[in-house]
Amino acid sequence: MKDRRLPSPSPIRREVVVVITERYTRLDGSGLLPWPAMTPPIDLRSDTVTQPTEAMKQTMMSATLGDDVLGDDPTVIALQERCAALLEKEAACFVPSGSMANQVAIRAHTRPGDEIICHEHSHIYQYEGGAWAAVSGCSIALLHGDRGQFEPADVAAVIRMNDHHFPRSRLLVVENTQNRGGGTVWPIDRIEAVTDEARSHGLRCHLDGARIWNASAATGIEPAEYARHFDTVSACFSKGLGCPVGSIVCGDTETIEHVHRGRKMLGGGMRQSGMLAAAALYALDHHRHRLADDHTHARILAETLADCDAAEIDPRSVETNILYFDVHGDASAIVARLDESGVRCLDSGPNTIRCVTSLAVDRSGIDEACAIFRRVLGSEGTW
Ligand SMILES: Cc1ncc(COP(=O)(O)O)c(C=O)c1O
Repeated sequence: MKDRRLPSPSPIRREVVVVITERYTRLDGSGLLPWPAMTPPIDLRSDTVTQPTEAMKQTMMSATLGDDVLGDDPTVIALQERCAALLEKEAACFVPSGSMANQVAIRAHTRPGDEIICHEHSHIYQYEGGAWAAVSGCSIALLHGDRGQFEPADVAAVIRMNDHHFPRSRLLVVENTQNRGGGTVWPIDRIEAVTDEARSHGLRCHLDGARIWNASAATGIEPAEYARHFDTVSACFSKGLGCPVGSIVCGDTETIEHVHRGRKMLGGGMRQSGMLAAAALYALDHHRHRLADDHTHARILAETLADCDAAEIDPRSVETNILYFDVHGDASAIVARLDESGVRCLDSGPNTIRCVTSLAVDRSGIDEACAIFRRVLGSEGTW
């Protein structure tokens, strides 16, 4: 029987419905260009802009799921076991973000009133909303040093005397690769030296390894070789690897128990997170080893920029996928001009711009970006 509540659309109305449906089907279903269609910009703002590939999405869709807060999501368990094995630690905990990974690790190692030691440019100090104070009640002793690194003597110099007047020096945090330092890779012997120094004073050691995969791709040193110097290691899947979300913390069983408790307390317990863990497993299998391409792309960009009149960079300073360059002019105005020209990057100081290469930009995108840099910052550019 005909349903009288729904009037049949007029021919014109029906046509409009079809057109709109097609646009939205393409946008939702196939990840094609948003409507209205336009050339997407070359996005060099961060390696966090990478998106899941179709194959990764398929893997996510077919993941076996449970309830991870109840501890029975098989895909999360598989990811945690895989990461613990990769980093040669006893246990691992899957968390939503790199910031949470670092902060639950800090909380697991410290008591309120303790002091953390790290570089002044480290992510845990600069960009995690002061969580070291708010979540763990700690103070921080900041170290200085070129390109985000420091020496054992720097660590020794800030360790407190065991006296009740002072906070208790408790945790050393190292970041590898070092983001603000320009994606720099810590030499393994310097890691060993600074962590040995910290341990000799009874401190624990945490590695912010958000980009440990990049460090490993750049040096050929296995992640476990870096991890062996630390009590806990955090690593991200949502930087350069295409995952929509997700990080891991690895360490000994007892510490990871504390990490689990901290994750729950901060609202980071997720339920059917096997969908996200499936993306991370896919990324480890399929995207990790291509990070070396991003490093090659970063060097190509750096060499192009070194030839541009309005930019200053030493291409030899580019070790992984992050590059900072100085500009002769107002960085925010230059970033706006680059944006209009089709390349997105970030100004990170009055005269400094940051670019990050990733899965989001392939070799032809890099070549196009180089052409735009030459046009905007080269001899024809007016700054
Ligand atoms: C070195 C480092 N650690 C931690 C993080 C935090 O990761 P998230 O943005 O997932 O919180 C970042 C983010 O860029 C980072 O660069």
